[in-house]
Amino acid sequence: MTASTQTPQTPNATARPSGAPDAAREEMPAGFVWGASTSAFQIEGATGADGRGPSIWDDFCARPGAVLGGDTGEPGADHYRRMDEDIALMRELGLGAYRFSVSWPRVRPGGGGPANRAGIDFYDRLTDALLEAGITPWPTLYHWDLPSELEEAGGWPVRDTALRFAEYAALMGEALGDRIGHWTTLNEPWCSAFLGYAAGIHAPGRTEPAASLAAAHHLMLGHGLAARELRRVCGAQVGIVLNPAELVPHRPVAEDVDAVRRADGVRNRLFTGPLLRGAYPDDVLEDLAPISDFSFVADGDLETIAQPLDFIGVNYYFAERVAADREAAGDAAAEAGPAPALVGTEPAVLLPHGEERTGMDWGVDPRGMYGVLTRMAAEAPGTDLYVTENGAAYPDEVGPDGRVRDSERVSYLRDHLLAVRAAARGGAPVRGYFAWSLLDNFEWAWGYSQRFGLVHVDFATQHRTVKDSGRWYAAAAAAGAVPGAGAAEG
Ligand code: FCB
Repeated sequence: MTASTQTPQTPNATARPSGAPDAAREEMPAGFVWGASTSAFQIEGATGADGRGPSIWDDFCARPGAVLGGDTGEPGADHYRRMDEDIALMRELGLGAYRFSVSWPRVRPGGGGPANRAGIDFYDRLTDALLEAGITPWPTLYHWDLPSELEEAGGWPVRDTALRFAEYAALMGEALGDRIGHWTTLNEPWCSAFLGYAAGIHAPGRTEPAASLAAAHHLMLGHGLAARELRRVCGAQVGIVLNPAELVPHRPVAEDVDAVRRADGVRNRLFTGPLLRGAYPDDVLEDLAPISDFSFVADGDLETIAQPLDFIGVNYYFAERVAADREAAGDAAAEAGPAPALVGTEPAVLLPHGEERTGMDWGVDPRGMYGVLTRMAAEAPGTDLYVTENGAAYPDEVGPDGRVRDSERVSYLRDHLLAVRAAARGGAPVRGYFAWSLLDNFEWAWGYSQRFGLVHVDFATQHRTVKDSGRWYAAAAAAGAVPGAGAAEG
């Protein structure tokens, strides 16, 4: 089965000859935002420039064996110095919006000390240049680069970090708030808390299950406090970006269905409970009781966390199958290799889902996009949704003719956009889509080995080449519809 035939409510997607789009069927809703995403540590480089301080990702990269190939935030895509060139590329692609993140250690080195004017100036110029180019700036305040000093003081497991985050949000709100319509507080707090503090495969590389739950709580507290500050200083729309997990039982048996419930508890409901309903779900607290008594929850925290949200960003890449244990997972577990210890899901085993795989061995399942959007729409009725990240890594190469023929990425984007469209037609208030990523970049623990960009970056020369997928996406954005794969040929 191809990924296209898996797309919900688009049964004829594969029957249509490529290059012959049926515009009436494939149009996105009016006013749909077509954007692309990046994050500061992944693209900026210039880690020592103009007073930037160190972040936990600089420290993690310096740890032997932590990041593939010993790669670091240098050179990134050298975006700090090539901002103008990159905005020209965005124009070429016809992007309506650009989601970037602000580097906390660039604008407030140390996390709590004086602001760094040179760092703020960079985002000030970026914002102005985007607006001048007719591209809406969408900043995210925290895309994983905590100032090192705050980690030395305990990191996200410590309450004080949330208070510093709110101060930093106010600082940025004051600096850019007159020109920003949509602020995002956190990117994927599940990853920050559990990949960073439980599995230890992301910065800061700690493997402390109890601390990871405190981290999750203080990240959300930081979100709530920051949302208040942003509304106080600039009154813009405020949202958060989550990466809801789409989980399906490995076998249709009670054990695997309960394993899905447990995994869903930590992956999804631990966050949506406090954020949307001001409470941790009872079964999640019960499942996690052997690890933590949640005594880090202070009076008033849940009320602070449950600030009204103007929008929710949804990042979706892949779906997972859940088996009750390794034995139940059988051969699939062996194929999947050892799973990182993720608090609360054990002894469940998470396996890739979908028959096709991307370059990172992530399963391709556009139905999951439909699933997470319709679920979020049901859980947060009336709240605007944006797909803030979606994309795929493939081993792209620039051909002798200078072209990057990434037809697999075109299919991936197309099938997922059709799933977004199906969710919107079904009533989910999806207002926009941001491809991950504008540029090839530093893919965290995978270093520079994985390319997600619509634009290829030669990291040695920093030469940029728009990939076929970039041209295809530009055609989609221009048409406000999801064209056939042939649109990349133009
Ligand atoms: C997401 C991250 C983003 C990028 C993609 C591939 O989880 O938010 O920075 O690494 O995965």
